[in-house]
Amino acid sequence: MKFTVSDQSLLDAKTPCLVTSLKTAKRVCKNTGETKTLNQACRDFEDTKGKQIFVQLAGRVERILILGGLDKIEAADYRKAITTASQALVGLSIPSAAIDVTSFKVKGVNTDWLVESAMASLSHSSYQFNQYKSKASKKFQLKSAVFYVDALEKRGLAKTIKCGNALDEGLAFAKDLGNQPPNICNPDYLLSETRRLLKGEKVKVSQLDERKMTSLGMGAFMAVSKGSDAQGRMIIIEYSGGKKGAAPTVLVGKGITFDTGGISLKPPPGMDEMKFDMCGAAAVLGVTRAVISAKLPINLVTIVAAAENMPSGRATRPGDIVTTSSGKTVEILNTDAEGRLVLCDAINYALRYKPKSIVDVATLTGACIVALGSHASALYSNSDELASDLLEAGENTGDRAWRMPLWDEYQSALNSNFADMANVGGREAGSVTAACFLSRFAENTDWAHLDVAGSAFFSGAKKGSSGRPVPLLFKYLQTR
Ligand code: BES
Ligand code: MN
Ligand code: ZN
Repeated sequence: MKFTVSDQSLLDAKTPCLVTSLKTAKRVCKNTGETKTLNQACRDFEDTKGKQIFVQLAGRVERILILGGLDKIEAADYRKAITTASQALVGLSIPSAAIDVTSFKVKGVNTDWLVESAMASLSHSSYQFNQYKSKASKKFQLKSAVFYVDALEKRGLAKTIKCGNALDEGLAFAKDLGNQPPNICNPDYLLSETRRLLKGEKVKVSQLDERKMTSLGMGAFMAVSKGSDAQGRMIIIEYSGGKKGAAPTVLVGKGITFDTGGISLKPPPGMDEMKFDMCGAAAVLGVTRAVISAKLPINLVTIVAAAENMPSGRATRPGDIVTTSSGKTVEILNTDAEGRLVLCDAINYALRYKPKSIVDVATLTGACIVALGSHASALYSNSDELASDLLEAGENTGDRAWRMPLWDEYQSALNSNFADMANVGGREAGSVTAACFLSRFAENTDWAHLDVAGSAFFSGAKKGSSGRPVPLLFKYLQTR
């Protein structure tokens, strides 16, 4: 998708499709002498919330998509209207659209927000993944959108548009990685795609291989990775767009490229969806791409813990005890609780950057889906300020998170008779005890954890990566 902004008069617009209100449609048609066509097409059209209609024209505006009831609407209604409009444009294979932003009268938001939200909707709707279809659809794809705004606002929107284009790139990258099959997308693939994506950019990409991680004492990461024939990788990206020496934000992503459960093997139904167990990694890589494209003035370190969780003669057994790079020991009671094992060594590694804050993103627990379903990511944090910043970024972008407790009372669920802690906490509050496990490795650093098991991908007919929580993270980093 390519987004631009225009302050020209709508009456001069030339576009395959103009998206606007009935009132403006009348003005446009009067100007081109097509009032009769419009009136005929709209005879039964109700100008109310949720209604929309396409009207075919013959001039420079080839058709108009009229959205009903745009006066004094709530932000949520705007999002719905824009989402259905985006889907309609994609459904009709319209290659580009002109969006009349001035036709929306939305309470409590500014033009920046209107344009930003529309860009996100269009990015989501226009995304396609058909790399593995032998007959790719010949249909046109929605490739660009221009936003018509008041002349006075155009200049101020330049940054918003730049960020919208950056987010679009980041989202598509995250979704592509998530959707790749697990026979292609292994830890080495994540590394080579990272390198390809960031080629020529002013960033440092490095990696730790299994030998290096062993020498750093990352026994928890290795306990997961060693059962697989695919080499595990810790991928590290350092972006310095901010003040020299300013403490960076560190993003950490769970990159389990396939989670069989290991020796604690998962049941067969739906196991294919465990290719999405690297969506946390995909999200932090996607948002890193967006940050670089938008040239945000921040220092950012991105760490991806990439491994495959497989059963084999070399795999970890339930009952094995390992030592993490922090020195803490872990009794691995369930090899399917592998995400926290790769993440604890990654979080410990993050501490060496003396970060301002650490945010990890992981498809960590099925229990998170039980608790919140797919509408919210679960947020845990040892810092109220960091938590509220992330929640606000989620609200603002519609990529919402919901804060969950990290109370001390939950910690004892991880007690082990043999090691410093167990890697599972029993049946109750599974998403919370997983977060409790991670919290022990953040030490005194401000840290937040997003469990995106329910939000990062869709199951069923819409099966595929959602790109979440890239919008939330990008907004958070923009406002930092
Ligand atoms: N990757 C899974 C969590 C998951 C489940 C993500 C469904 C997305 C959809 C994770 O590694 C896992 O297996 N967690 C276990 C933890 C349990 C053994 C304590 C779970 O949720 O069952
Ligand atoms: Mn697992
Ligand atoms: Zn997993």
